[in-house]
Amino acid sequence: MADRTERPHVLMMSEITADGKLTLRKGASSKILMKYMAHETEILLHKTRAAYDAIMVGANTIRIDNSFLTVRLVPGKSPLRVIPCSLADIPLSSNVLGPDAPTLIAVSEKAPDEKVAAIRAKGASVAVAGKEHVELPLLMKILKEKYKVNKLMIEGGPTLNWHMLHHQLVDEIRLIHLPFIVGGSDTPSLVGGMHINSEDEMIRLQLKNHYLCGMNLVSEYDVLYHQE
Ligand SMILES: NC(=O)c1ccc[n+]([C@@H]2O[C@H](COP(=O)([O-])OP(=O)(O)OC[C@H]3O[C@@H](n4cnc5c(N)ncnc54)[C@H](OP(=O)(O)O)[C@@H]3O)[C@@H](O)[C@H]2O)c1
Repeated sequence: MADRTERPHVLMMSEITADGKLTLRKGASSKILMKYMAHETEILLHKTRAAYDAIMVGANTIRIDNSFLTVRLVPGKSPLRVIPCSLADIPLSSNVLGPDAPTLIAVSEKAPDEKVAAIRAKGASVAVAGKEHVELPLLMKILKEKYKVNKLMIEGGPTLNWHMLHHQLVDEIRLIHLPFIVGGSDTPSLVGGMHINSEDEMIRLQLKNHYLCGMNLVSEYDVLYHQE
């Protein structure tokens, strides 16, 4: 496991339906589901953002949801927005490239120079963190050492969530449970990636808190991985 002192403390936070889904169907924006969050829960989400140094979502979430990732509903500073995007190919019109908060796009050495230059021209920073793809353990080290990020929250999607867990980079999980079932075998759920082959590979969580926030159940876990 990567040395925890060399990386930020990481919270994974997500809204999920009763059947563990993050959206209505593959390719749909999670903003449709987020409309059904209790106002108190939206406040919780924004308060959490304000308490963290940085917030990270995957490049596909930016392509589909076009998130702002800012603090809007409570007073407080918006965190650094971090997007891993190996080939620097998120749309230049993305809201995260707007002026509302600082943004760091993490790319690989394969990212074309002109795309990197276009992102920089929008005012965002670019960090190279990997040869072919963004290597998340390296990105964590860069965030901690160069950008002084001690607390990072990640807000999905399932591909990023899986890679972060696979590299044992997540310390805590906070789930906002939405009282819906959407179904769909290919509808994105909390964690994507590869299936596991045996129960030895299950990632163990320890429930540490649960409470109602407005009408939404919130559950909080520590991540124990499998060897603890
Ligand atoms: N309910 C919620 O809380 C919530 C939150 C967020 C998202 N969502 C939903 O999730 C869906 C998108 O999820 P997704 O799984 O398709 O994509 P994602 O996890 O948002 O993004 C994955 C992409 O990030 C880039 N990336 C670069 N380096 C990576 C690395 N080391 N590990 C992982 N990803 C890396 C890759 O794109 P490149 O190949 O371009 O580098 C990869 O395809 C959307 O439908 C969105 O609405 C829901």
